[in-house]
Amino acid sequence: MVYYYCTVNFENDLILRAANGENVERVPVWLMRQAGRILPEYRAVRASLSGFKELVETPELAAEVTIQPVDLLGVDAAIIFSDILVIPDAMGLPYRMEKGVGPIFDTTIKSASDILKLKIADPYFDLKYVTDAISITKKELNGRVPLIGFAGAPWTIFSYMIEGKGSKTFSEARKFLYQEPEAAHDLLQKITDSTIVYLKAQIEAGADMVQLFDSWAGILPKVHYLEFGLNYLRQICDAVNEVPITVFAKGAWFAIEEIGRLNCNTIGLDWHTSSEMARRLIGKEKTLQGNLDPCLLYASNEELVLETKSMLNNFGGQKHIANLGHGVYPDTNPEKVKLFINTIKEHKF
Ligand code: CP3
Repeated sequence: MVYYYCTVNFENDLILRAANGENVERVPVWLMRQAGRILPEYRAVRASLSGFKELVETPELAAEVTIQPVDLLGVDAAIIFSDILVIPDAMGLPYRMEKGVGPIFDTTIKSASDILKLKIADPYFDLKYVTDAISITKKELNGRVPLIGFAGAPWTIFSYMIEGKGSKTFSEARKFLYQEPEAAHDLLQKITDSTIVYLKAQIEAGADMVQLFDSWAGILPKVHYLEFGLNYLRQICDAVNEVPITVFAKGAWFAIEEIGRLNCNTIGLDWHTSSEMARRLIGKEKTLQGNLDPCLLYASNEELVLETKSMLNNFGGQKHIANLGHGVYPDTNPEKVKLFINTIKEHKF
C-alpha cells in the first residue's frame, strides 16, 4: 500500500513510519485519551466554558487542548480533541455531557422507523467544527508531530444510540440485535456511511492517520461481533486508505485473527492480549499498538519502569507503537505519565 502523506515536513514522523512498518530508531509513544482528562492545563481551559460540548465545538480551543500533551508530556503524536459521539449528533441524535455521569441521549433509537428519520452525516456542514479544529491544529503543530484523527466504530456508536447512555452490560443494544436484526443492520450501515465520509473529511483537513475506537467490542459473543461489528469495520478500512488506519477493538481478543485480516495498518491491543499471542494470530505484517495496563500508572515508579521496559522488549522494538491498553484514567498523576513516556524514549533494546 502506498500512502500520499509527506513525511519530509515532519520534525518527528516516528509514528507514521512505525504504522507503515518501516524501521524506526526508537518506539513512538502516545496515550489514548491524552487530551483532556489528566492535565490541570486542560481543566483551566474547560473551566471558562459552559461544558464539554462547547470546548469540542470551538475549534481554536479544541486545537489548544489537542496540542497540550505534545508540549507538556512529550508524546510523539497529537490526537484531535473531540468525541466519538459527534457522529450520532450529526446524524440527528444529539447528546449532552452530564457532569459525573457522562454522555446522555435524551432521545434513543427504539425501532426501524426511528432509524429512517436519521440522516447520513454531512461532515462539511454538521462536523465543520472538527475539520476546522484539525486545520488549526495542523497549522499550530507546524510539523512537530503527526495528528491523529478518529471515530467510534459502528458497533460502539450503535450501542450509545440504543442505550442513550453508558452501561455496564449494554443489554438494550444487545437485545436489539436479537429482536430487530434487520433494523440493526440498517442503523449500522447508516453509521458506517457517515463514518467513512467523516474520516475522509478529517484526512482532507490534515489528519495524518486515523483510529477507530471499538470500546464495546468485548461485550458481544463472537458470532455477533463478526456479523454486527467486524463487517462494518471492514467497510471502513476498505474505504479509507489515504492514510494509515488503526483499529482498536477493546476486549475482542476472541476475534483477533479476523481483526488481523482487516485492511488496516495497526491493531490496538488492550492489556488482556499479549504481544506474543497477537503476533502469532495476526502475523508479521501489521504494526501493533499498546498495551500497558492503565492502572500501572498508579504503581510505584520502580514497578512502572520495569513493566514498561518489559512491554517494550516483548513487542521487540519494531512495528510497535507504545500506548496504554485503554484510555488513561482521569485521576492519573501526569508525572507518572511523563515517566512512562520518558522510559519508552530512553529504552535501549
Ligand atoms: O484521546 C483523546 O485525548 C482525544 C479526545 C477523546 C475524548 N473522547 C474526549 C473526552 C477521545 C478519543 C474520546 C473517545 C471516546 N469517547 C470513546 C472511545 C475511547 C474509550 O475510552 O473507550 C468513548 C467510549 C467516548 C464516550 C465518552 N465521552 C464517555 C463515556 C465520556 C464520559 C467519561 C469520560 O471518558 O470522561 C466522554 C466524555 C469525554 N470525552 C471527556 C473527554 C476529555 C470528559 C469530559 C469533560 O471534560 O468533562
